[in-house]
Amino acid sequence: MSDAPILKAHGVRKAFSIGDSTLEILHGVNLELFRGESLCLMGSSGAGKSTLLHILGLLDAPTEGRVTLDGISAWELPQAERAALRNHSLGFVFQFYHLLPELTALENAVLPAMLAGHRAGRSSDWRGRARENLVTFGLDKRLAPLPSQLSGGEQQRVAIARARLMHPDILLADEPTGNLDTATGDKVLELLLGEQRRREVALLLVTHDDNAAARADRVVLLKAGKQADAPAG
Ligand SMILES: Nc1ncnc2c1ncn2[C@@H]1O[C@H](COP(=O)(O)OP(=O)(O)O)[C@@H](O)[C@H]1O
Ligand SMILES: [Mg+2]
Repeated sequence: MSDAPILKAHGVRKAFSIGDSTLEILHGVNLELFRGESLCLMGSSGAGKSTLLHILGLLDAPTEGRVTLDGISAWELPQAERAALRNHSLGFVFQFYHLLPELTALENAVLPAMLAGHRAGRSSDWRGRARENLVTFGLDKRLAPLPSQLSGGEQQRVAIARARLMHPDILLADEPTGNLDTATGDKVLELLLGEQRRREVALLLVTHDDNAAARADRVVLLKAGKQADAPAG
């Protein structure tokens, strides 16, 4: 771990407009994620965990406050620069996988390089790297199927392969095992934590799983849109 956080939320607020009224979900969250650490974000359903993760993942803008990535205020960048930063620095794993249904497993796993276009370099190299990732995750026989032809556990492994393709320094995972049975979920968790340790990426994991929390370096509790530090383990 280094001293400066790789990802930081500074007084992040988020409000949604519903009809004539505004509902504030996040009330000034300050959160630091350090290089190479695993941080578990816990909290009851509706606490705002997904909302916060989408803001940290540069998928949804905060109403107020800042998100810094390696000191760069990401939401103040022009949209195209923010998209490039997201593509290179962040990998996102969702509860419901969010694979593109019309693409094969391999095509889904190579998608970040396709989005980066010519800047990413030769597409055949990226296909090779995506294939290697899928093979490492035990999917060597499952490159050609569409997501609808894969089990939940297989889909999530493809999603993790996609998230790691560009070797991002940060992985954000929003209840990645929430839709899987315990045994399959444990394997997916093993994969994520293994990836975090092996490559020393910073992992921010939203989960209700006490087992996962016990294995993380640190646990933060989100309670009614504000963070409260919880003891690890
Ligand atoms: N786009 C939206 N519009 C209005 N309300 C939303 C929107 N997204 C989330 N919310 C509300 O924000 C609250 C927090 O949601 P969420 O971040 O998904 O919580 P968690 O992931 O902790 O379960 C919930 O009450 C939810 O209904
Ligand atoms: Mg959620």
